[in-house]
Amino acid sequence: MDVDWRREALALAGRLREAGDLTDAAWAAAVAATPRHVLVPKAYQQGEDGGWEEVDTVESGLAYSTTTLVTELDGDGRPVSSSTKPDLMVRMLEALDVRDGHRVLEIGTGTGYNAALLAKRLGDERVYSVDVDPRLVATAGKRLAEFGCRPRLAAKDGIGGWPEHGPYDRIIATCAVPSVPSAWIGQVAEGGKVLVDVKVNTGAGNLVLLTRHEDRLEGRFTKRWAAFMGMRHDVKAGKTVESPKAAGERQRTTTAPRRPWDDHREVWFLAGLGLPKEIRYGYVLDPATREPTASMLRAPDGSWCEAWDGGVREAGPTSLWAEVERAYRMWCDWGEPGWERLGLTVTPDGQWWWLDEPSRRISPTGT
Ligand SMILES: C[S@@+](CC[C@H](N)C(=O)[O-])C[C@H]1O[C@@H](n2cnc3c(N)ncnc32)[C@H](O)[C@@H]1O
Repeated sequence: MDVDWRREALALAGRLREAGDLTDAAWAAAVAATPRHVLVPKAYQQGEDGGWEEVDTVESGLAYSTTTLVTELDGDGRPVSSSTKPDLMVRMLEALDVRDGHRVLEIGTGTGYNAALLAKRLGDERVYSVDVDPRLVATAGKRLAEFGCRPRLAAKDGIGGWPEHGPYDRIIATCAVPSVPSAWIGQVAEGGKVLVDVKVNTGAGNLVLLTRHEDRLEGRFTKRWAAFMGMRHDVKAGKTVESPKAAGERQRTTTAPRRPWDDHREVWFLAGLGLPKEIRYGYVLDPATREPTASMLRAPDGSWCEAWDGGVREAGPTSLWAEVERAYRMWCDWGEPGWERLGLTVTPDGQWWWLDEPSRRISPTGT
């Protein structure tokens, strides 16, 4: 099917401007010059039954929409690669304050769409992008070359960055990390910036914008919330192993927010800092609507809890919900801070979160 992609890409840039996602003319020009349908010819759409169907992005009109286009599923049918929503992508590029002449490292090449935007703006030789999946890197490289775009790509685990070409002026990650890899500190020039989605063990978190100051990266969460798929280290990841459910169920009533997907995600983020690192989180879906109806947490010692609108059920040696309640009380005492009051310092020896200023470190019991 033919597509007048120049008209479509220009119209997309116009819509992004109208919506206020795009204010910089140079990024608008990059969007207008990038044929997204070449990089994302097919995508998966989820049906009401939860199954995935492959669609042609031109025929379905999705190629130049502001939709995330899922492009790769793992063996369990979970999305592991996608072309990020263009509105989010340009908001991130603007938030990162990328300027002409900058050298940028992207973690998570995926379809190559963001690498193309960067290359159109900065020139091929200033853009570096890595993805853990060699097949994705090969496909993106081939498709980018179809329209003469040749950023430097490599199949690598982005946790280590790409030290050979550092330091970069900017690092942008399009996959979420549980903590910021310390390898990135030395790969950003002094005063340079890193933008990455940090999601802790409860699945809560947000984009954090960090600046390199001497031996550390430091900065705050951005005000607007965003979510990326998690960084993976094994391309052929296997099935999720559920912890055994401990017996001896207890019921609790609670005032803490029970639903991290729509109530105060900051509380769930703070709860995650106090819970064991290895915790698993998930949602219970309503079998009819497939809407999430309860949150669940599981710990390696078999402790678990499920939080419904009606209350909380839990069992096992550790009360996981007690941590959510404690985080909630702390958050209330602090005046219910939004994301932008929470910050992060990353050093080669460790990293810590803070409230309002780096000296107010957050610990499970306060600041
Ligand atoms: C949301 S997609 C990236 C979107 C991409 N920037 C685009 O414009 O199409 C996330 C990507 O991160 C990649 N990824 C996951 N873990 C990674 C890792 N450890 N190192 C590098 N890339 C990783 C995935 O393979 C996936 O392609």
